[in-house]
Amino acid sequence: MTAQATDSSIHTPAGSPHFHFKDGALHAEAVSLQKLGQDLGTPLYVYSRAALATAFNAYKEAIGTRDVLVCFGMKANSNLAVLKEFARLGSGFDIVSGGELARVLAAGANPSKVVFSGVGKQVWEMRAALDAGVKCFNVESIPELKRLSAVATEMGQSAAVSLRVNPDVDAKTHPYISTGLKENKFGIAIEEAPAAYALAASLPGISVVGVDCHIGSQITEVDPYLDALDKLLKLIDELKTKGIILKHLDIGGGLGIKYDDETPLAPKVLLDKVFAQLQARGYAELQLVMEPGRSLVGNAGVMLTTVQYLKHTEARNFAIVDAAMNDLMRPALYEAWHGVLPVVPNSGANAPATTLYDVVGPVCESADWLARGRQMALNEGEIIAIESAGAYGFVMAGNYNSRTRPAEVMVDGDKYHVIRQRETFEDLIRGESCLP
Ligand code: LLP
Repeated sequence: MTAQATDSSIHTPAGSPHFHFKDGALHAEAVSLQKLGQDLGTPLYVYSRAALATAFNAYKEAIGTRDVLVCFGMKANSNLAVLKEFARLGSGFDIVSGGELARVLAAGANPSKVVFSGVGKQVWEMRAALDAGVKCFNVESIPELKRLSAVATEMGQSAAVSLRVNPDVDAKTHPYISTGLKENKFGIAIEEAPAAYALAASLPGISVVGVDCHIGSQITEVDPYLDALDKLLKLIDELKTKGIILKHLDIGGGLGIKYDDETPLAPKVLLDKVFAQLQARGYAELQLVMEPGRSLVGNAGVMLTTVQYLKHTEARNFAIVDAAMNDLMRPALYEAWHGVLPVVPNSGANAPATTLYDVVGPVCESADWLARGRQMALNEGEIIAIESAGAYGFVMAGNYNSRTRPAEVMVDGDKYHVIRQRETFEDLIRGESCLP
């Protein structure tokens, strides 16, 4: 029963040609996922090195000779091996914490290609970033600006600053991952930006270098970006009249990927339109910064999990697997849709009946599901792949129900490397102690 799937409910892998069926079995590059799951156990995150490079090169090719710095939004996947790959490919990084700074430095990234975003930067994080020599701070509020001025002054340094403005545009995505609307906590309202820039220009220890926005995530339309860009360019016009000249414009991340039937926004489509607008408005010399996360890693990874039990109830059929909401939180948190593929699909006369399954984990919460209402022919004990798990997968994993976090592995051609060991019980209780 290892023949190529013929069942129409078995879709082809989403998004990346580096995950494909060969001899009836799903492979990452030249490595069988069945073998990986059996050798290393499940749940298991599997990334494809070639898929990371393909995604990054799509940006590189779209950029051509234009002055664009891609800063990988590393919150999407911060494994050191992943960061190292992007650093090698020439990527910069968008960080949001002192922890992320430590990771990019450990991965050998060039700090002058690092931008520091986030609404809640603490003094120690500012100090560490100044020490490291990051390209700029994306400052999100006046109090943050004042704090940064004080910290930099005390260190005898000048902090390069880009103000993150909130352009109040609708990214037309899930409310939890939409960040450019007035009601969001992010950025400085565009109407208040001129005054904020005037203040920034007057503060000691601050050097104004750019403007920044990030309107949301999993965006598949170009118009929200162009609306935001239009507002940012009007702001740059106004600043120019006040003698505040910016060197770069950061349009954030947010490009969507194909989970199901979405048509992703290609970097080239976005960049060509953005540059056409920059040219038309006389800003062709501005450096463009981008902070893509999901589109660089999302479809470069899957999560493998093993079916433990098939439970048939009056109302639903459940495939109870060994991965749960603590391992991949997106379905529980956003009702996100991820493709599910048996790694060796059952077919032929002895195949189990195709049944409508909810794929659920063992955690004691009704929100603990990974996929709902999927037609599949499953046997207990078989391995299935949850697709598009390379972004916001492992990074959002936790230890709820005292579950150890999965291992992560990177496939490279016909080889694989464990890039993070599976956690052990000792890891789980590390740092805990009982009263005497
Ligand atoms: N820059 C900033 C300032 C951001 O806040 C984000 C993501 C990015 C860049 C990268 O955005 P991307 O290219 O990945 O869309 N956990 C959610 C996504 C949260 C995104 C948060 N910010 C999810 O699983 O869908």
